[in-house]
Amino acid sequence: MRIDVITLFPEFIDVCARVGVVGRARARGLIEIAMWNPRDFATDNYRSADDRCYGGGPGVVMMIDPLRKALDSARKASGSAQGKAIYLSPQGTRLDQAKVEALARRDHLILLCGRYEGVDERFIEHAVEEEISIGDYVLSGGELAAAILIDAVGRLQEGVLHDAQSASQDSFSDGLLDCPHYTRPERHEWGEVPAVLTSGDHAAIARWRRKQSLGRTWLRRPDLLARLELDPKQRALLDEFRREHEGKTTRDRDSGSGE
Ligand SMILES: C[S@@+](CC[C@H](N)C(=O)[O-])C[C@H]1O[C@@H](n2cnc3c(N)ncnc32)[C@H](O)[C@@H]1O
Repeated sequence: MRIDVITLFPEFIDVCARVGVVGRARARGLIEIAMWNPRDFATDNYRSADDRCYGGGPGVVMMIDPLRKALDSARKASGSAQGKAIYLSPQGTRLDQAKVEALARRDHLILLCGRYEGVDERFIEHAVEEEISIGDYVLSGGELAAAILIDAVGRLQEGVLHDAQSASQDSFSDGLLDCPHYTRPERHEWGEVPAVLTSGDHAAIARWRRKQSLGRTWLRRPDLLARLELDPKQRALLDEFRREHEGKTTRDRDSGSGE
């Protein structure tokens, strides 16, 4: 996969492209990341890539032409003349795992990071394929949002994760939250690892994990559960979790520890 990023602050993206899972993938040639700074395409001595808002008011807006030239250069360098950009924007469709999986299947992404008041609307209308938001809050720039997208799609590329199964067991991949995880020590003053996980019984472990996954989703994200059609086995596991949970809540209340 190739990802071109149009940004006034390539340093932000550079960190994400050099460290961790994405950094390793890049070093192994599994992902190519290139950055394009609109200031490099400015035509004045001040390397201006932004100007005041028409109509007055505070702040400045990113100008069309430096962005357009940066986009053309990204397209040329990638060898795909048609690529439109994804604009990271608080006004876009909210990013979720289904969207990440769809984007991860593409060979090429061009990400546009806004700054200031944002980008001239005409650029969005003519050169942007879609707008993606990472949540209902406003960042000072699109670089952190782009870094999130790069990380999320990068880890899904074939050969990037050591264990391909780990991504398929993560939260959201099957519509549920992941189960809890434990590591050494087995006994600690803050509790013991559930006995089933040290039993060596793989079928029992898989069953426990499915039950926890269903139960956590029921407790924390009922909206996700409402979107799923549970099969009879899943329904039985969830009922079991709910009975155990209700039993524990009652015991906690009776012993006063739930207060
Ligand atoms: C200060 S914001 C501009 C906000 C814009 N005036 C608005 O209210 O819609 C500057 C840039 O940060 C990025 N940004 C801010 N919040 C974001 C979010 N939730 N998701 C993705 N990008 C975001 C966008 O690229 C945006 O152009």
